[in-house]
Amino acid sequence: MGLWLSKMKEAVPEGIRTPGELARFELSHALPGVPVTVEEDASQGDGYRIEPLTDGGLRLTGGSTGVLYGAYRAILDRFCGEELAAPVESTPKYALRMIDCWDNPDGSIERGYAGRSLFFHDGKLTPDPVRIRELGRLLASAGLNVLCINNVNVHFPAQLLLEDDLPSLAALAEMFRPFGVRLMLSVDFSQPMRSGIPTADPLDPAVRNWWKKTATRVWAAIPDLAGFLVKADSEGRPGPFTYGRNHAEGANMLAEAVAPFGGVIVWRCFVYNCRQDWRDTATDRPKAAWEHYAFLDGEFAENVILQVKHGPFDFQVREPLSPLLLGMKKTNLAMELQLAQEYTGHQIDLYTMIPMWKELYEELPADNIMSLAAVSNLGDDANYTGHPLAAVNLYTFGLLAWDPDIDPAAAVGRWVRLTYGLAPAEEQTLTELLLSSRRIYEKYTAPLGLGWMITPHDHYGPNPSGYEYDLWGTYHKANRNAVGIDRTAKGTDFLGQYPEELRKKYEDPETCPDLYLLFYHRLPYTFRMRDGRTLIQRIYDDHFEGLAETRTMAENLLALPFPEPDADVIRERMDRQLYNAREWCDIINTFFFRLSGIPDEKGRKIYD
Ligand code: GCU
Repeated sequence: MGLWLSKMKEAVPEGIRTPGELARFELSHALPGVPVTVEEDASQGDGYRIEPLTDGGLRLTGGSTGVLYGAYRAILDRFCGEELAAPVESTPKYALRMIDCWDNPDGSIERGYAGRSLFFHDGKLTPDPVRIRELGRLLASAGLNVLCINNVNVHFPAQLLLEDDLPSLAALAEMFRPFGVRLMLSVDFSQPMRSGIPTADPLDPAVRNWWKKTATRVWAAIPDLAGFLVKADSEGRPGPFTYGRNHAEGANMLAEAVAPFGGVIVWRCFVYNCRQDWRDTATDRPKAAWEHYAFLDGEFAENVILQVKHGPFDFQVREPLSPLLLGMKKTNLAMELQLAQEYTGHQIDLYTMIPMWKELYEELPADNIMSLAAVSNLGDDANYTGHPLAAVNLYTFGLLAWDPDIDPAAAVGRWVRLTYGLAPAEEQTLTELLLSSRRIYEKYTAPLGLGWMITPHDHYGPNPSGYEYDLWGTYHKANRNAVGIDRTAKGTDFLGQYPEELRKKYEDPETCPDLYLLFYHRLPYTFRMRDGRTLIQRIYDDHFEGLAETRTMAENLLALPFPEPDADVIRERMDRQLYNAREWCDIINTFFFRLSGIPDEKGRKIYD
């Protein structure tokens, strides 16, 4: 077993049925010679307690899944060289710690950068049990417990998972059961129409009945299915709007069908006009989610969870926290993160996410949400995440979903220690390098909060105006004098969707934090920033710095003694990152220089 479980030499055998059995198996193989007693107490759920005993052994107590999490905690602590001096107790902050795979039945993965699907091949759900057991172990050891296996864009034949292919889904659920991982399924809101019902109107009795009968059949086959995930009225997906219904009416109809079985409906809030005319300056895409959902606060059934992307756009390098996550106090909310590096380097460029997640939590009270979800960065590559160092995002996401107070350096350091047997100084180098990687990527790609200067659709590499005259509502409006969109009360008033304290923090360009300046404001290139630099100079400086820091990062990284095959992959991807960083730096700087005509004060090479 590789990745952060590199020291676990014994594969999980077939035939283990429960998390308790698995906990005992893992402890006896990973900690031979350490006597551990395991006591299950169902009332403790995912929680556990580990007590060191005087004979050098451990007493582990916990719920039926808690003992497994406790076992991994005890094992991984020992692998890190941490001996327990006093008892520890732990329960997760969020009950649902979810990974959303965007896998299609044909085996392709939407925004997948680590190979093909681990679940689907040629239209069928045909997973390899050996890899599923490895994956289950990875997820459980990171504390993750819900796995949605199919793309939120439910293309045919994914609908068959609720129909003829239900037995294969049940078989997969069984494979994951000993790992405490429950499956979830993305469903097509219009699926009743496949059974001859002429509508998918959520208030139509035939539609409601179809979903009830379907839920009864599905939960009979998979009694612990976590629920359904729904992308409705979003980027061409069917939804309640077709029938003049709102999203509470749509979600509640499904919620009613799954409630008798303890299922949840995770309803995504990624709703905006994806056919915007670029000439339309009145519409501002970041405002869309709030406009569709905020007025429905309190209207959703108890077993509906609204899943909100962390920012109001779409997983850009820097976005403010989505105002919906602050404004819907009477609704169950999940925050959606994206481990897949769609806009953040395709698992070629290094991009460690936990510093960014922690920034979100500076404005998000942890209790505002009841769950965390992340779009998967997994695929069938031997190392699961394409870039071996991208696995840090999967592992630390698990730690964050267990405890959002986690310290980023400690989380990344733990991953480094578990993954590679490096010397202490090398461990520190790698940890620091990973922690700095997001800011470096930001410096060469996303000037002061501007996103979307990326190659359209594919989303790797620069194309500063690629989206400027397109349909997606993602404009920077750079001209020869100024750049950015005014989102204050004088402009689109997106900022008006926030509580007053945050409005104040961002509304005045003189005091707005630099890294959000061009998200909220339209400013001339000659605008004087607090550090005395002009806006244009800051853009040039950041890009040159980002490139220089990438070069230093490459030197430091490539000097580390990674084992093969990781060393080879890391070298190859770093070469591509160096090329990418140079392209970004030169193209963005040239773009702004050609528009503004203002030279770099330091006389560095910009192309005219
Ligand atoms: C982005 C992404 C799509 C995805 C969508 C979503 O737009 O590019 O591939 O389907 O987000 O989150 O639903």
